[in-house]
Amino acid sequence: MTTVNVSDRPAHGLKADVLVLGTLDADGSAVLAAGHGLPTAAAGHLAQQLAALQATGAAEEVVTVAGVPEVSAGRVILTGLGKGSPDTASFGHEVLRRAAGAAVRSAKNATKVVLALPAAGAESVAAVAEGAALGSYRYAGVRGETAQRGSRGRRGSKDAPTVSAVTVVASDARDKAVKAAAVRAGVLAEAKAYARDLVNTPPNKLFPQSFTDSVKERSTTGKGTVTVTVLDEKALRKGGFGGIVGVGQGSVNPPRLVTLTWAPAKAKQSVALVGKGITFDSGGLCIKPPASMLTMKSDMAGAAAVAATVFAAAELGLPVKVTGYLCLAENMPSGTAQRPSDVVTMRNGTTVEILDTDAEGRMVLGDGLCLAAESGPDAIVDIATLTGAQMVALGARVAGIMSNDDGFRERVRAAANASGEAAWPMPLPADLRSQLDSSVADLAHKGERWGGMLTAGLFLKEFVPQGTAWAHVDIAGPSFNEGSPWGYTPKGGTGFGVGTLLTLVETYAA
Ligand code: BES
Ligand code: MN
Ligand code: ZN
Repeated sequence: MTTVNVSDRPAHGLKADVLVLGTLDADGSAVLAAGHGLPTAAAGHLAQQLAALQATGAAEEVVTVAGVPEVSAGRVILTGLGKGSPDTASFGHEVLRRAAGAAVRSAKNATKVVLALPAAGAESVAAVAEGAALGSYRYAGVRGETAQRGSRGRRGSKDAPTVSAVTVVASDARDKAVKAAAVRAGVLAEAKAYARDLVNTPPNKLFPQSFTDSVKERSTTGKGTVTVTVLDEKALRKGGFGGIVGVGQGSVNPPRLVTLTWAPAKAKQSVALVGKGITFDSGGLCIKPPASMLTMKSDMAGAAAVAATVFAAAELGLPVKVTGYLCLAENMPSGTAQRPSDVVTMRNGTTVEILDTDAEGRMVLGDGLCLAAESGPDAIVDIATLTGAQMVALGARVAGIMSNDDGFRERVRAAANASGEAAWPMPLPADLRSQLDSSVADLAHKGERWGGMLTAGLFLKEFVPQGTAWAHVDIAGPSFNEGSPWGYTPKGGTGFGVGTLLTLVETYAA
């Protein structure tokens, strides 16, 4: 875990391994951004270095300089903010978040990092702190003893020092709102790290019961009291959760429906969060080709974001009731697996004709939505790596948001945007609903290929009572980074959704 501090002391005098400063792109050459507060000699030296290294100040550019006169830190990392006026107010928060993240990611063998970027005011200080803390994330992995010790003298990555403390320098560091923003940034980064860890954990280590064990353990270590209740396969059968039971029945690792509750006495409003938690999606009998299966340990990223958010809300003591529903199952082919043409009965009595066992997410979520609705929350959000169609439509970095309420969809989108998680509104066209008609059941469980993200959303809508504000967030692309790291986003699990959900929940605290 990375601790987050704020300081109003001059950055060059602070003890650290690395000092991070911002650069601007001024017509193709880098200049130091405001906010560094360096003595003239240090600033002059850095200006020379930037010119000699032909730095441009572009976003994602990171330049390291060692031995800068009058700077206590041994290394200075100059991180690009791109074009923009040195007027601090003109920087978007996401620019700061990414620049801080890129800098900290590149700070190898460093434990303490100080950042003096053009940040003033709670929101921009929070953005720098979040980016820095998120950039410090490393997945420890599962490494054997020999790899650890390094028979060839190589240090295992578990041993390599990682950034454990970040200090954001800001003139208003003593301001109450700035201090609170730094605390929130630390909690948010920690929550995202938890979600990332869950996603990155190999599927033979993370299955429904071990996911459940992880949240149970976390519920005993945090600040606020999160209660955890678990429905096992027997209770799920008895409770009529035919969607989760059907998806899970092909696996030797039985399904679970886990409810996490943060219910402070002062709460006036309640938000329910429902997460798709397929710990591995092989496709079931409608098995996926091998290449498509490679990222399918991440098919529980929605549930990971939900769990992390409930814990973060508790840690911050938010005066909102937040209930998380983790719909956990492993989608596997076997002699006990569900078949295309099976008809299952969902928690609310709706019968569904299974057409493709690879459309399993909507089945576990349908049951989760029913359970969430039963306690009458003010709003329900589900979040899921639901469709490949989301990636076709919006790519790997932008989530799709669908809703039964335009105002609520905009509220969720605004929360996503404010937290640096890109999301875009998508429709639930009534015209497509007939694609879900079945000749043998109440509902067919998928429509045509075209518009697959939307028909999946329309399917989920069937399990939300009319009049309850509900949004569905499809994070198939942004939940898992198959490419190189960028900004504060590592390879693998990204933690996408935690920022959106936490920010949304906070809007119910007011
Ligand atoms: N988990 C997948 C969706 C997915 C695909 C997530 C790629 C992340 C990356 C989901 O369960 C799935 O298989 N969806 C099918 C639905 C289809 C059978 C109606 C799809 O999108 O192809
Ligand atoms: Mn699937
Ligand atoms: Zn899936």
